Amino acid sequence: MEKRAGRQYRCSAWRRRNLPILFLFFFFFFLVFSGAASAAGNGKTHARRINPGRNSSRSNSGFGVQLVRRGDPQRVTIDNGIVAVTFSSPDGDVIGIKYKGIDNVLETLNDDDNRGYWDVVWSKPGDQRGPFDKVIRLRATDFRVVMQDDEQIEVSFTKKWEPSDATVPLNIDKRYILRRGSSGIYMYAVLERLEGWPDVDMDQIRVVFKLQQKLFHFMAISDDRQRVMPLAKDRITGRPLAYPEAVLLTHPSNPEFRGEVDDKYQYSCEDKDNKVHGWISEEPAVGFWMITPSDEFRVGGPIKQDLTSHVGPIVLNMFTSTHYTGKDLNTAYRNGEPWKKVLGPVFVYLNSGDTSTLWRDAKEQMHTEVKSWPYEFVNSEDYPAAHQRGSVVGQLILRDRYINERLMYAGSAYVGLAIPGDVGSWQRDAKGYQFWTQADRKGRFFIDNIRVGTYNLYAWVPGIMGDYKYSVNITIQPGKDRRWTWVCLCMIHQGMAQLCGK
Ligand SMILES: *[C@@H]1O[C@H](CO)[C@@H](O)[C@H](O)[C@H]1NC(C)=O
Ligand SMILES: *[C@@H]1O[C@H](CO)[C@@H](O)[C@H](O)[C@H]1NC(C)=O
Repeated sequence: MEKRAGRQYRCSAWRRRNLPILFLFFFFFFLVFSGAASAAGNGKTHARRINPGRNSSRSNSGFGVQLVRRGDPQRVTIDNGIVAVTFSSPDGDVIGIKYKGIDNVLETLNDDDNRGYWDVVWSKPGDQRGPFDKVIRLRATDFRVVMQDDEQIEVSFTKKWEPSDATVPLNIDKRYILRRGSSGIYMYAVLERLEGWPDVDMDQIRVVFKLQQKLFHFMAISDDRQRVMPLAKDRITGRPLAYPEAVLLTHPSNPEFRGEVDDKYQYSCEDKDNKVHGWISEEPAVGFWMITPSDEFRVGGPIKQDLTSHVGPIVLNMFTSTHYTGKDLNTAYRNGEPWKKVLGPVFVYLNSGDTSTLWRDAKEQMHTEVKSWPYEFVNSEDYPAAHQRGSVVGQLILRDRYINERLMYAGSAYVGLAIPGDVGSWQRDAKGYQFWTQADRKGRFFIDNIRVGTYNLYAWVPGIMGDYKYSVNITIQPGKDRRWTWVCLCMIHQGMAQLCGK
């Protein structure tokens, strides 16, 4: 008890000594963000915030965004003169993407509902069947145009669940946004279950794109993980190994791949690093990229791993999955628990030019998208704009007597907000939003664009044992709620972190 008190005292003393520096730090953030806020305020409406220089190099700037229906009532096309995206209606699958003279970058050998789609792996509790018996498309029943002008079109494909439905108890709203001058399409889904709906497990929710096999042969998921890939048919002529995803390539079309094992899990990466990946076609030289500008809607925290792109050629965005976690991830909805979440928006980006420049250009576009987050052009009340979000700023101080008798900065600590729970519970959470950052070398952190809600603040420090949770709930109010969180983290060797001082 006495020891604890002493620890607390020293932590507070440490804070008193450092308070002037911390105030300066806080003041700096204040300056930066009031600057950013006023800059955004001057921008008038979002729809005009087209990236400078974009028109000249890649677009037909005179071309407004159009919605086209060519006779067939079961098809809707939105077109901005750069890309034309065709949907099945009212299902809301992406069945065609026209770009740079390629009539469809998606695999036309596949049926309409097997090119660009959302799906879910679900089951009822106690169901004996394997999970893959219940992978179903998130298919809609109604189509509407949410907004349309020369600058932007947003379309919506919805389905309302009825108790008579045998399918997954979810209200579905799949949205697609095409903007003027933009070389790609934004997409997100608002998924909802109301209070009292049947118990369900939803182990996986993702969006899938299957590209033209005859065009896309080169895959890139990072600077040092990119190359020409085997073909889908090489897997068919090969020998499945211990599990179906792993196939020994025995008769590949390109002999170089003989003896190699192809397995989509070889191309996983940590969510925090999974911001852009995709495929390149050599002739014509075109890239197809999945850009994920934020981690807020993913599950299990920043170091949860998941799939990216793989042989097919296939491009995924995994919003929820039990990959690398199993059922420890809380994908179970019980006792009529209500839930609503916005997955995305993510951006499917297309580029062209010299094949050697396409990956670099895709990364640049990724940075542009990250900087634009949260997007101002999204027309859903479930997706709050920047001014409706809050931020938390603070510093973590560390005590681990086995390393140092004195307090230390929690340098490079991972600090994040996730729904309230136990220490480390963010790793198992698949329902809420999470907001993570990495502290600087003095343990200072700043988390911006947090959705309104009640959270716990969690942290861990690379190279230090233990896990941390701030004991006080953090409630983010609407509006820029710049909260100053001082936390002094006590790492006890081989134990849980404790709060030591305020
Ligand atoms: C891009 O196009 C828009 C709309 O046509 C136009 O207002 C803007 O000035 C153009 N920007 C550039 C850099 O050409
Ligand atoms: C924090 O919030 C959660 C969920 O809203 C609640 O269950 C818990 O009692 C709160 N804890 C404290 C210390 O206020």
